[in-house]
Amino acid sequence: MVARKETPARIVFVASEGVPFSKTGGLADVVGALPKALAANRHPVTVILPRYQMTAAARASLRNLTLPLQGGLKYADIQEAGKTNGVRHLLVDCPEYFDRSGLYQMEGVDYPDNAERFAAFCLASIEAMKRQPRAPDVIHCHDWQTALVPIYLRTLYAGDRFFHNTSVLLTIHNLGYQGIFPPEVLSRISLRPEMFTVDGLEYFGKVNLLKGGILYSNAITTVSKKYSREIQTSEFGFGLEGVLAGRRERIHGILNGVDYEEWSPGTDRFIAAHYTPQDLTGKQKCKRDLLESMGFRQQDIQRERPVLGIVSRFASQKGFDLIAEVADRLLTEDLTLVALGSGDRTYEKLFLGLARKHPDKVAVKVAYDNVLAHKIEAGADMFLMPSRYEPCGLNQIYSMKYGTVPIVRATGGLDDTVEPFDGTAGTGFKFGPYSGDALMRAVGQALKVYRQREVWRRVMTNGMAKDFSWDQSAKQFSEIYRSLTPQAGDP
Ligand code: ADP
Ligand code: GLC
Repeated sequence: MVARKETPARIVFVASEGVPFSKTGGLADVVGALPKALAANRHPVTVILPRYQMTAAARASLRNLTLPLQGGLKYADIQEAGKTNGVRHLLVDCPEYFDRSGLYQMEGVDYPDNAERFAAFCLASIEAMKRQPRAPDVIHCHDWQTALVPIYLRTLYAGDRFFHNTSVLLTIHNLGYQGIFPPEVLSRISLRPEMFTVDGLEYFGKVNLLKGGILYSNAITTVSKKYSREIQTSEFGFGLEGVLAGRRERIHGILNGVDYEEWSPGTDRFIAAHYTPQDLTGKQKCKRDLLESMGFRQQDIQRERPVLGIVSRFASQKGFDLIAEVADRLLTEDLTLVALGSGDRTYEKLFLGLARKHPDKVAVKVAYDNVLAHKIEAGADMFLMPSRYEPCGLNQIYSMKYGTVPIVRATGGLDDTVEPFDGTAGTGFKFGPYSGDALMRAVGQALKVYRQREVWRRVMTNGMAKDFSWDQSAKQFSEIYRSLTPQAGDP
């Protein structure tokens, strides 16, 4: 028998952010990198994103798509943002909703019309797909902002033959954000009141869009194996553990990869000097450059203290309460703390306060700054992620490649990617309990090893040798897409 050569599934990504068009966190990195890896595996891939203020305008290819919203009609254009690395990008241009400086919020407060904004985005994405010659085999959605795609396909578009052979895969990047709105929102996003049941979108008296996405998608992935198990427990399920457990057979944990074209110390265009595991001298220059960029005085720089780096959204998920708890103890150690982040005011104040109190040891920049994020990855000696929960986490993976040793809490993807250093093998330092004492113990271990230069070099180079590129994970996605795509000859 001659083996039939399978045609790779045609995929459309629908996501609320993606590099290089828009970014607030790791979702954008994934949406920037995974499609490239899929295209390299011969999948035709289109990525649809909103056009925000931070996104450069492109050529409009479809004008005035009509979207039934708020009991009337809204309009959006689709812009063609070109094909790079085999991936086609479309931008939904709807200035009323997206021509804003923040993606989801302003000054730490969510926009009040987020449901309508992402409803418009999902409807426009569906309408854009309908205007292509063929429907995709799989629509790959991400997080609550695009959970309305499978919901609309089961409701407004249920009778539409165009999508008859199209499946939906939903990736959950973070269960902490579910798109929860008051029941009145339903009519504004063109959904019927009958959807408001326990088997539908109802969730403790509110509408929960992610819940609908979980129920109406053909398969679900999360971004690490450990997180795929954690979300089915009450500790990490944020109230959706039962709904998820009910779909257990369709949930897969696929670890995020990273894009080493963007994040490698040998080629990074943002850092002061390049370096490799064989020749680490450039890392010293990066450290000095980082400390100078953060405004430390020369006499403090010359102390050659180990530098502990943080780059993060400032959100309660990230475990900074622990830093607040141990700050005094932590800063009696002979180290320098460099933090970059923005978001929740509580944590901005925490780090700014520490920098004011210890100007010789702590510097913080409250901002979103991609260049500085790269400088910290390269210039720090250690990278701290004490997360309360972490679906995958990308910074610890970037850190390993830069020889910047991660100190992490053993949760979700942090636990799956960092192996504790035992003197010979291992890539970082981990702690289990969510407590200041446990965090301090891990920092203490790291500082002890740091003082033994040859042993430290080993933990650095162990991490640098790890390969978390997308190849493996992209193959796992191909498998899932294939399982969702009817094959020629299927009954
Ligand atoms: P999350 O998606 O939960 O924010 P990840 O570790 O998966 O966490 O990804 C965070 C991504 O966002 C990384 O690429 C990181 O460098 C970037 N990032 C986070 N905060 C900032 C910031 N303030 N400035 C620049 N980049 C940031
Ligand atoms: C989320 C998670 C983070 C993950 C990222 C990309 O924002 O918080 O852990 O790495 O998505 O999947």
